[in-house]
Amino acid sequence: MAKKALIIYATRTGQTQKIAELIAEGIRFGGMEAETINVNDLDTSQKNLKDYDAIVIGSPTYHGEILQSIKTLLFKLESIGVEGKVGGAFGSYGWSGEAIDRIYNTMLHVLKMNMVNDALWLKSADLGGGIQMAQSYGKEIAKKMMT
Ligand SMILES: Cc1cc2nc3c(=O)[nH]c(=O)nc-3n(C[C@H](O)[C@H](O)[C@H](O)COP(=O)(O)O)c2cc1C
Repeated sequence: MAKKALIIYATRTGQTQKIAELIAEGIRFGGMEAETINVNDLDTSQKNLKDYDAIVIGSPTYHGEILQSIKTLLFKLESIGVEGKVGGAFGSYGWSGEAIDRIYNTMLHVLKMNMVNDALWLKSADLGGGIQMAQSYGKEIAKKMMT
């Protein structure tokens, strides 16, 4: 059975969702299964996160912050236990993008996930090669899932 990745995102105007979908495409190009879900539709008591080999999390930055729904998710993941799973972090941002590093570092240091080398920072999927960068990030995640 192919390994599976779950990409969980928050978004206000749709940019971070677009990036999530492109990352999922990249993961599929890399030979793995990928699902995307808006954090508001994710019921962690229903969806068994233990079934996923990789979890990728994205949030835009508003007022220098991660969106609250993603902060809550990170606390939930700490109690569920996702140690050792492949992880990645991403987000759309305007100028400072604090959310992206904060998610990445929480996944690395608190959740103790097996993180890909870097987080993915994109102002917009439509700018400066964003589509290719998001797909490549997905391929990198798929590659890490193979090991
Ligand atoms: C009220 C407001 C505050 C924002 N604050 C920040 C910020 O502190 N840092 C930053 O990098 N971008 C900031 N942005 C820009 C958003 O992060 C950017 O528009 C992003 O693409 C939105 O992603 P989304 O479509 O997934 O919601 C802000 C935008 C708005 C409207």
